[in-house]
Amino acid sequence: MSEDPDVHTRRIARAGLDREDPTGWFEDLYSAASEGRAVVPWDRGTANPLLTEWFEASEPNGNGKTAVVIGAGTGWDAELVADRGYQTTAFDISPTAVDTAQRNHPDSQTQYVVADLLDQPADWHHAFDLVVEIYTVQALPISLQPTAVQKVGELVGPGGTLVVIASARREGQPDAEVEGPPWPLTRATIESFASAPDLRLIEVDESPSPSDPTATRWRAEFLRD
Ligand SMILES: C[S@@+](CC[C@H](N)C(=O)[O-])C[C@H]1O[C@@H](n2cnc3c(N)ncnc32)[C@H](O)[C@@H]1O
Repeated sequence: MSEDPDVHTRRIARAGLDREDPTGWFEDLYSAASEGRAVVPWDRGTANPLLTEWFEASEPNGNGKTAVVIGAGTGWDAELVADRGYQTTAFDISPTAVDTAQRNHPDSQTQYVVADLLDQPADWHHAFDLVVEIYTVQALPISLQPTAVQKVGELVGPGGTLVVIASARREGQPDAEVEGPPWPLTRATIESFASAPDLRLIEVDESPSPSDPTATRWRAEFLRD
């Protein structure tokens, strides 16, 4: 495959979006990657450094606690969470992503499952002590983001923590000028995670992206009272 992975991914995404299927293209991409016909651009082969830093700074003890990793892809972030002692569920809408995660981590304690953030199992409602959302909401068109934000918040249990990591949209850039995917999140969208009942914004940081010095990323932490 000689085409740049980002360009190739956008082409696969565009085909899905043109058939008005904003989430079906993830399976197209992961299945092409599993056959060597594509590269998943966000598959770093390691946990997200901002999540690693968050664990180092917060030192949460996951023993006896539950966690869920949203849009878990090939599982690197979920493995970090499970290594910290959490009984971890990791889900993705793409069955091939879930298969790949299971194959990448054959001895894992993580439960990898196929599920849709926008139509999640009822027994996940307010069920998790730690919820990790990295780059899933921004992978959905802007029109779906308010629902996705609400669904992320619904996973957080009483006393639970939500960590959100996302690319930041350039200040003042209008929706119409954002050519996704991804559709990076505005500060207002980050703050809107706290619109859910009892979910409080504890901290939000904006830091430079390691891959693009002109771009920044959010890391935000929320707590459910
Ligand atoms: C940009 S990737 C990020 C993957 C991973 N979180 C990471 O940071 O490397 C977005 C992921 O979300 C998954 N996804 C997209 N829409 C979803 C949905 N509605 N429910 C569950 N997973 C979804 C995709 O299949 C993909 O693995």
